[in-house]
Amino acid sequence: MALTSHVKLGVNIDHIATLRQARQESEPDPVAAARVCKTAGADMIVCHLRKDRRHIQDADLAALCALKGETHLELCDDPEMVAVALKAKPSSVCLVPETAREVTTRGGLDLLSDQKDPRLENAIKKLKKAGIEVSLFVDPDPVSVRRAKALGADTVELCTTAYAVTREKNKQLAELETLALAGYLAHELGLSLHAGHALDYHNARGVARLPHMACLNIGFSIVARSVFVGLKAAVAEMKQTIS
Ligand code: PXP
Repeated sequence: MALTSHVKLGVNIDHIATLRQARQESEPDPVAAARVCKTAGADMIVCHLRKDRRHIQDADLAALCALKGETHLELCDDPEMVAVALKAKPSSVCLVPETAREVTTRGGLDLLSDQKDPRLENAIKKLKKAGIEVSLFVDPDPVSVRRAKALGADTVELCTTAYAVTREKNKQLAELETLALAGYLAHELGLSLHAGHALDYHNARGVARLPHMACLNIGFSIVARSVFVGLKAAVAEMKQTIS
């Protein structure tokens, strides 16, 4: 009998909004997309409200948070952005680094130094006080995972880019091992374990199989595939891939 995992799938719908914003139209509507994702097996809807509002808009976020089920927001720790999150009340927030004009998130938060980071600490405090679960997007290294715990995070989302972008088998296995070790540590520390970024239909299964993995957050590859097979099928295929 094949082993199956119970890893949740968070579907990031940013690029549905990217398409809409390309023409400043009302379609495709990310909220309608979220409904389709849910019927296809998505456990959570994920979106990233960027400071430049290049895809998801504040009104999208409000409408997504009003839907039944979990809405997970990716956000930088800018106080103005945190204020938007506090108003919208998503189920959870993943704090991510964000720089202007980056094409996509470029890695985990810089948690390697012992220096206090009042902005990050305030963001975590305010979100938690509002009853919003806090995840920190971190590179899969022990220092970052330990610091996430010390900062009061509920969850760490391990950045999978290094694993996902390599085409070399040995390097990929080494990156997977790095993710596994960071995952063990997160679990030992009582953190819930998520992973994501740059995962696709070929590489997601390996991460889904890691011990203690609770949820994978995947966006671009699903939306890209949906152009050819439709969103419902693209989500269902990914759900199948990681199960
Ligand atoms: N996780 C985090 C923290 C992200 O910032 C992103 C991109 O918004 C994702 C997951 C999804 O990445 P991708 O679109 O490459 O699947």
